[in-house]
Amino acid sequence: MSNSSLEQLLRNKSAKVGVIGLGYVGLPLIRAFIAAGFRTMGFDLDQAKVDQLRAGRSYIKHIPAEWIAQHIADGRFVPTADMGRLGEPDALLICVPTPLNATRDPDLTYIEQTAEQIAAVLRPGQLVVLESTTYPGTTREIVLPILQKGGLQAGRDFFLAFSPEREDPGNPNFTAERIPKVVGGIDAASGRLAELLYGQAMAQVVPVSNCEIAEAAKILENTYRSVNIAMVNELKMLFMRIGIDVWEVIDAAKTKPFGFQAFYPGPGLGGHCIPIDPFYLTWLARRNGMATRFIELAGEINSSMPEYVIHRLVEALNNFSKPLRGSRISLLGVAYKKDVDDPRESPSFKLIELLLARGAVLTYNDPHVPKLPKMRHYSVPDMTSCPLVPEYLAAQDAVLIATDHSAYDYNFIVEHARLVIDTRNATKNVASGREKIAKLDS
Ligand SMILES: NC(=O)c1ccc[n+]([C@@H]2O[C@H](COP(=O)([O-])OP(=O)(O)OC[C@H]3O[C@@H](n4cnc5c(N)ncnc54)[C@H](O)[C@@H]3O)[C@@H](O)[C@H]2O)c1
Repeated sequence: MSNSSLEQLLRNKSAKVGVIGLGYVGLPLIRAFIAAGFRTMGFDLDQAKVDQLRAGRSYIKHIPAEWIAQHIADGRFVPTADMGRLGEPDALLICVPTPLNATRDPDLTYIEQTAEQIAAVLRPGQLVVLESTTYPGTTREIVLPILQKGGLQAGRDFFLAFSPEREDPGNPNFTAERIPKVVGGIDAASGRLAELLYGQAMAQVVPVSNCEIAEAAKILENTYRSVNIAMVNELKMLFMRIGIDVWEVIDAAKTKPFGFQAFYPGPGLGGHCIPIDPFYLTWLARRNGMATRFIELAGEINSSMPEYVIHRLVEALNNFSKPLRGSRISLLGVAYKKDVDDPRESPSFKLIELLLARGAVLTYNDPHVPKLPKMRHYSVPDMTSCPLVPEYLAAQDAVLIATDHSAYDYNFIVEHARLVIDTRNATKNVASGREKIAKLDS
């Protein structure tokens, strides 16, 4: 099949779109392409996920089960764990994890494995797009040679591009199709076809010169966040010492209509992206004999925040003549950010480790995480979320707000708790009982 027949399939939306990795990124992407009128296939090695989808069930809070059931029934969404079927779709979008390994270097094993699976069945006329966040150079240096192993040539027989995912989980204003999509090809023909594909489903496509620009743009976005969050975290500690409320400072500063974007302090960085992606760049810099000092420093400050929170908790308990050892502490929120059920890299797990190591009598509540999940880098106790009832709150020596979920009634929490440590300024509108709140900056 030629370049022009793939173009025709994309133009009239009869192309079949396959998404590999049906997680937080892959499922919303499937939804965007179905909404645009495409038929889709979803590939995941995790048979349990495929079985759930086939049964019309959702494992991601903001993807409704009814939507899944509807498109399983009408055949627009075909989930499978059979990688032998990767030859069926005309476009394959790779959304597999890109974590760090034990030495905090990029772990590209998921991308490599996926490329091998595609290479085994790759046919002329297919367009492959890598969406997983990674360092600039991955598409050309890692994915391209694997796909070309069978003798097909990129840019002529098949097409290869990179387009970073910018999903903002839980943000109803920015669903996948409404976020501008940066697209860069391995060559001009690949870039043009990828631009055409996404143009059929996304509100705006931003074509760039090549895949390296697209890869670097994503890492820049995430590094920018990490560095700015570190800066406000550092300022929080300074302002706290001199009695200035950092949140009020940020609210004032953000009234400037140009040249300032607000970032907020917190108990540390969380999520799959911000704590991890900048280290892809650090690794690349090292490989090229350079250092990325901003990234390293930001990582250092952000990862010291859980210790800082514990330090503040110890001080607050001290005012009640209580040691942390033996104190009953309730941790509110283990998801990495408000209103999501994703616990990955959440600073709450570091807080849990630190609290247990110091002998706190720990329990937790999170309306979106009913049971503590197993985490790769932390030892997590078996624990289920405690109901947030007055007796429970009143029985705690301190309540530590780690995630500012909207489902929480902060007036209720402050009313019934004895001491509240608020790492997110979640209690800012609570009028009575403020003397019980040990905000970390005032
Ligand atoms: N979650 C986000 O908000 C977000 C935002 C932007 C970018 N990203 C990036 O997108 C990528 C995917 O992230 P995610 O959050 O969706 O991860 P995820 O863990 O939610 O989903 C990845 C899925 O890929 C599957 N998988 C792994 N190897 C596979 C293989 N060889 N073949 C088929 N399936 C395989 C896993 O079983 C899992 O279901 C990462 O690179 C991440 O950095 C994530």
